[in-house]
Amino acid sequence: MSKKIANNLFEDKTNVYVSECRSTNDLLAYLVKKKILSEGSLLVTDYQKKGRGQRKNTWVSEQAKNLLFSFVIKPKILLSEQFKLHIITSISLVKSLKTFNLKKLKIKWPNDIYISGKKVAGILIENQIFMKKISHSIIGIGLNVNQTSFNILNATSLTKELNSEIEIQEVLNLIKYNFNIEYNNLHLDMNFLLNRYKRELFGLNESLDFLINNQKMTGKIKDVNSDGTLNILINKKIKRCDFGSISYL
Ligand code: BTN
Repeated sequence: MSKKIANNLFEDKTNVYVSECRSTNDLLAYLVKKKILSEGSLLVTDYQKKGRGQRKNTWVSEQAKNLLFSFVIKPKILLSEQFKLHIITSISLVKSLKTFNLKKLKIKWPNDIYISGKKVAGILIENQIFMKKISHSIIGIGLNVNQTSFNILNATSLTKELNSEIEIQEVLNLIKYNFNIEYNNLHLDMNFLLNRYKRELFGLNESLDFLINNQKMTGKIKDVNSDGTLNILINKKIKRCDFGSISYL
């Protein structure tokens, strides 16, 4: 665990803790804009009053039970390569959670983390673009650690899966360790990264029900493209689906 890695993203960087905030993504974005924080700076909280998810969803989490944090990177990759950030972040989470010997640990496209068919973590990546490149990204992660009851049926936590309390700081350290390794892989070939992602992907080549452009359809995920879109086989034809047009049923 203490192995030294070249370019340690988080080493000697600012770690901000606030007992509560609106959203760690929002507060971190504000601090970065004010030029107060540099790449690798991280903000963690016990409670968010307006935690945000993808597709304008909310992220609700009981006080001091779960891991809620955001950090900033300056990847300087092309906007067209932005899916790489989703790949490396979700792989970092999967690698970190594998430490706990969890069964049926999967990435649900594009970047939700599921255990035995229930969501344990979500990722919200917000990019700033300059000259077609990503000048900085705020990566926000919400991971259910010690919460035991949820308003949503399809949610779980580490404690529910493992039947024991987990040290939140330990999980954060694991994620930082693994993200740092993956961040050093960011410039590797997209196909190589996509293959690693697909190995951890939920439902690849399985028959699944989707809502595509508000229509219920059954299909099989056959591939993930470099722009993050899915190739789904429906009625013997490949349909290319983007994040806005599709949800799982
Ligand atoms: C999703 O599954 O839709 C993404 C959820 C992301 C939640 C995290 S919690 C920390 C950070 N701050 C936020 O407001 N959202 C992210």
